[in-house]
Amino acid sequence: MSKTIIKIEDLKRSFTMGEETVHALKGISFSIQEGEFVTIMGTSGSGKSTLLNVLGCLDQPNSGVYEIDGVSIKELTKNELARIRNEKIGFIFQSYNLLARTTAIENVELPLLYSTKVLTAEEIHTKAFKALEQVNLSDRLDHTPSQLSGGQ
Ligand SMILES: Nc1ncnc2c1ncn2[C@@H]1O[C@H](COP(=O)(O)OP(=O)(O)O)[C@@H](O)[C@H]1O
Ligand SMILES: [Mg+2]
Repeated sequence: MSKTIIKIEDLKRSFTMGEETVHALKGISFSIQEGEFVTIMGTSGSGKSTLLNVLGCLDQPNSGVYEIDGVSIKELTKNELARIRNEKIGFIFQSYNLLARTTAIENVELPLLYSTKVLTAEEIHTKAFKALEQVNLSDRLDHTPSQLSGGQ
């Protein structure tokens, strides 16, 4: 039986700007099963980034349910949310948000340094190397973000 990894129900997120309120997410519901590959499509301004910010635990909804791996994010503290982001979420920002003066391999190692799992420097390096190798970047380890292509 498949396992539900992401479950959202009647999720709402609005932004108040002075007199005006923008209703970016007006009560959406769906769930994603383990192993599923899902694409969210929509016109500009339809709420994709707002939704991803909530799914990525970077933003909280005004109301509704969001459960990741069976855990409701509503009850979590800032530190618990940070731990979920570190351990369960991979997020590629439109503007990358890589550390500019830090090499490719060090950028990949960084989240493992913050991890609550105790790993040696060598284990961290090996994991980061393997991850970069999987995406054909093992010959770009010492390149900084500006020395990589957008796709890389
Ligand atoms: N921080 C914010 N403050 C006010 N309005 C916002 C904010 N973020 C997004 N919006 C508004 O919410 C709507 C959805 O935006 P967004 O999620 O960025 O759309 P998309 O990523 O699909 O292009 C837009 O009308 C946008 O102007
Ligand atoms: Mg967007």
